[in-house]
Amino acid sequence: MGLVTATALASKGHNVVLIEKDKAKISSINKGKAPIAEDGLDDKLSDCLKHNCLRAVENYQEMLGTDVTLVCVGTPSNPDGSIDLSYIKQSAREIGKMLGKKTERHTVVIRSTVIPGTTRGVIIPALEEYSGHKLHDAFDVAVNPEFLQEGSALRCYFNPDRIIIGEDDKGAGDTVEKLYEGISAPIIRTDIPTAEMVKYASNAFLATKISFINEIGNLCQKLGIDVYEVAKGISFDYRIGDRFLNAGLGFGGSCLPKDLGALVQASRGLGYHARLLESVMEVNRLQVLKIIQAVEQKLGDLKNKKISILGLAFKPNTDDVRSAPALRVIEMLINKGAMVKAYDPMAMPNARAVLPEGIEYCRSAEEAVRGGDCVLVLTEWAEFKNESLYRGEIVFDGRRVVDPRNAKTFCDYQGICW
Ligand code: UDX
Repeated sequence: MGLVTATALASKGHNVVLIEKDKAKISSINKGKAPIAEDGLDDKLSDCLKHNCLRAVENYQEMLGTDVTLVCVGTPSNPDGSIDLSYIKQSAREIGKMLGKKTERHTVVIRSTVIPGTTRGVIIPALEEYSGHKLHDAFDVAVNPEFLQEGSALRCYFNPDRIIIGEDDKGAGDTVEKLYEGISAPIIRTDIPTAEMVKYASNAFLATKISFINEIGNLCQKLGIDVYEVAKGISFDYRIGDRFLNAGLGFGGSCLPKDLGALVQASRGLGYHARLLESVMEVNRLQVLKIIQAVEQKLGDLKNKKISILGLAFKPNTDDVRSAPALRVIEMLINKGAMVKAYDPMAMPNARAVLPEGIEYCRSAEEAVRGGDCVLVLTEWAEFKNESLYRGEIVFDGRRVVDPRNAKTFCDYQGICW
């Protein structure tokens, strides 16, 4: 998110310094090679470097020559699902120290996802403490949550559905609004906690849509109804819409599961039991078990069975495997004694780094499928839609890569909830 934001701003003519701790990432960025796979990012980054609008550095000192700091650090999960604010606190301390040295007014913009109340309760006090200045005297703070989807993050940046700006001070909000000059989208200006909550509510709603259609799918499967036809049928109601209604293995990635978990934990801390959100997580957890149960039902004991896995990334067009449903499926298969062969067009290096030893990584989908007892499709990469891959195979489709009516004519096919 930091690199995409920095590149997008630099490409709009702003002079951007990207402060990063990891030396390898700094060096890669400064050579025009993004350390993440993101459509169009390498080209745009190289362009910005050529025009001297962007450089990655290690030292916060570089903040001194700038007017605005956008905080894009990660807010990962603690083991109990609550939000880990250590990177936020650390950056607030460093930024605070620099604000103490600055003579011109500065605006700090929080882009990281933080539980409502964090900016006012944690970040501003740290900035005040470490700068020795009071908010509004020498610096202002705004919140500008990001809604970038991985794989199309630059497109999302330049074509947002909306821009949310949380402010305690009009000047800070105006500064953020100016950063988006030339981008056409509704701009909603709110107070700071509201902007923080909009981010969580958006991701919680998207997750709810997915678990909702998965639950309807589980029911449809029992009734012999195709949930994809049902989804199409409901989608023409403009109050429902046609997005995020693809039933299957459920949601993963670095945001939806993490943000939902953080919101549930924050609710508990407030003495409120977020029953709906907990159920959304539970339905999501159970979708992964469904595919394992289906395989066991078909093959019996999985010990020494050869299972072919197509897809490791949490969704197509990314190499990201964070909270990918595929990883949980594979771990369960291995625990049951199965032998796993896997293929993913982009995510194999990242998966290899976190999965247990003993998995055979293949050079192509064909190679992964060949010689296995069954095939599990866990990410809907375009190349997995090729029906000839599955001819004569036992197939468990977690992502609806082929039309089940056709599939049943050339393979032993089972969908996860269709
Ligand atoms: C998400 C939000 O969409 C974005 O606005 C936010 O800023 C960051 O988190 P991202 O993590 O890139 O973006 O993934 P997204 O495209 O939302 O997909 C999340 C997961 O839901 C994926 O695992 C995907 O496979 C799954 N999904 C999505 C479904 O199972 N069904 C659907 O219909 C849509």
